[in-house]
Amino acid sequence: MDLQQVSSLDVEPGELPKTMAAWVIREERLGEPKDAFQIEEMEVPEPGAFEVIVRVMAAGVNYNNVWAALGKPVSVMKYGDHPEYGHHIGGSDASGVVWKVGPGVTRWKAGDEVVVHCNQASYEDPEVHGLDPMAAPSQRIWGYETTWGSFAQFTKVQAQQLLPKPHALTWEEAASYGLVYFTAYRMLLTRCGLQAGDRVLIWGAAGGLGVFATQLCKATGAHCVGVVSSTEKGELVKRLGAADFIDRSEFAGMMRRGGESPEEEKARFRTSREFSNRVKEILGDAPDIVFEHVGQATFPTSVYTVKPFGKVVICAGTTGFHLDFDVRYLWMKQKEIVGSHFANAYECMKANELIESGQIRPVIWRTMGFDGVAQAHQLMLENKHLGKISILVGAESEGLGRTADGPGAIHAEVGG
Ligand SMILES: NC(=O)c1ccc[n+]([C@@H]2O[C@H](COP(=O)([O-])OP(=O)(O)OC[C@H]3O[C@@H](n4cnc5c(N)ncnc54)[C@H](OP(=O)(O)O)[C@@H]3O)[C@@H](O)[C@H]2O)c1
Repeated sequence: MDLQQVSSLDVEPGELPKTMAAWVIREERLGEPKDAFQIEEMEVPEPGAFEVIVRVMAAGVNYNNVWAALGKPVSVMKYGDHPEYGHHIGGSDASGVVWKVGPGVTRWKAGDEVVVHCNQASYEDPEVHGLDPMAAPSQRIWGYETTWGSFAQFTKVQAQQLLPKPHALTWEEAASYGLVYFTAYRMLLTRCGLQAGDRVLIWGAAGGLGVFATQLCKATGAHCVGVVSSTEKGELVKRLGAADFIDRSEFAGMMRRGGESPEEEKARFRTSREFSNRVKEILGDAPDIVFEHVGQATFPTSVYTVKPFGKVVICAGTTGFHLDFDVRYLWMKQKEIVGSHFANAYECMKANELIESGQIRPVIWRTMGFDGVAQAHQLMLENKHLGKISILVGAESEGLGRTADGPGAIHAEVGG
C-alpha cells in the first residue's frame, strides 16, 4: 500500500471507504514487534448499535501491543472478537474525527473531534449500571483484547468510549495519553484516595504510567519520588514535579530474580533496606502509597518500603507475574495490596478535564509516521523510550489539530 496516501481520504464524514490501511498482527507471525506487525489492506467495518467509526488522526503506542505482538503471556487471538475476525488490529489510544455513527448513538455526530478511552463493556451487563464497567464479564480493552484498534485509518469503538478532544492539543498529543493516564488516575485517586501531603514512591516514573502518576501527585499536593534508570529520565521526573529521583542501577541488588539461595536473599534484602532508607530520606518518611507495575523484580521491595497501613497499588507485572515476597512485612504492619485495572468512563472523563484545563499535560518523547508502528513497539520492548510515542495516521504532519491556545504537551528530550 502507498503509505504516503494514509492521510488522504476521498470520502466525506458519514461515508466509509471499502478498505483501509492497517497494521495487523496474526497468530502465525507472533513474535518481536518488528516482525509481528505488518501493514495490510483491510475492510472498513460498519458501526453496529451504539458503535461509532472514528477516522484516526493519530494513535498512541502502549505496552499492551508489545504483549499482543509477542503472544505473551497469552495470545490475544483467543479473546474478545478476535476468533470472529481472525486478525488483531492493535492500538488502544486515538485522537480522531467521528466518521459514522451506528443506530442508537445520540451524543456524537459525524465531524466531532474526539479522543478514545479504551474500556469496552456490554451495556446489557448489570455491573455496568450498578457497580463498575471494570467488573463486567464483558469488559475488554479495545485494541488489545479486541481488534479494530487505532493502528489503522478507521477504528470501531463503543460510543461510550468517546471523550471530547482537548482543544489546546495537537492530534498527536491528544492520542498519546489516555490508556496510561486514566490507569494512573484510577490507581492513585480512586483506589488509593490520594490526598495532599501523602508520600508516594513511583516505579518507572519516566515511563508511560509514571509520567502521569508523577503529575497527579504534584497536582494533588502529594510528595513523590520516582525510580528511573538514567539521570536524563530522572531530570524529566523532577521537571514533572517529583521531589527527587533514584537511579535504580545504584540498587541493582534489590531486584528479585527468582530462585535466590538463602544467602543471596539476605544480600538482596540488605539492598532493599538501603533503597527503602533512601526513599525515606527523600520523602521525609516511608511512602503511604507505592505505585507498582514492574511486578516480580520490585514487589518484595515495594511491600517492605511502604508505610505501616500503607498501600501498594499494582496494575501490571512487566518483569513477571508470580510475586514472591515476605508476607510478614504485610501482615505485621497491616499493609494492603490493591489491584487496579484501567478506568471507567466517568474516571476517564474527570481525568480528561484535567488535560483540557492544562493541569496535567501529555509527555511525548517521539512522534512517528504511520510506517513507524512496528519500530515504536520494538523500542518499547527494548525500554529505549521515555514518556509516550505517538503515530500520525490521518494527520499529515505534526502540530495540527489545535483549536485553542494552551500549554500543550511536554516534550521529553530525544535520546534520553
Ligand atoms: N492494567 C492496566 O490497566 C495497565 C495500564 C497501563 C499499563 N499497564 C502495564 O504496565 C506496565 C508499564 O506500562 P508503561 O506504559 O508505563 O510502560 P513503559 O513506558 O515501558 O514504562 C515502564 C517503566 O518501568 C521501568 N522498568 C522496566 N523494567 C524495570 C525493572 N526491571 N525494574 C524496575 N523498573 C523497570 C522502566 O523505567 P526505568 O528503566 O527508567 O526504571 C520503564 O520506563 C506494562 O506492563 C503495561 O502493559 C497496565
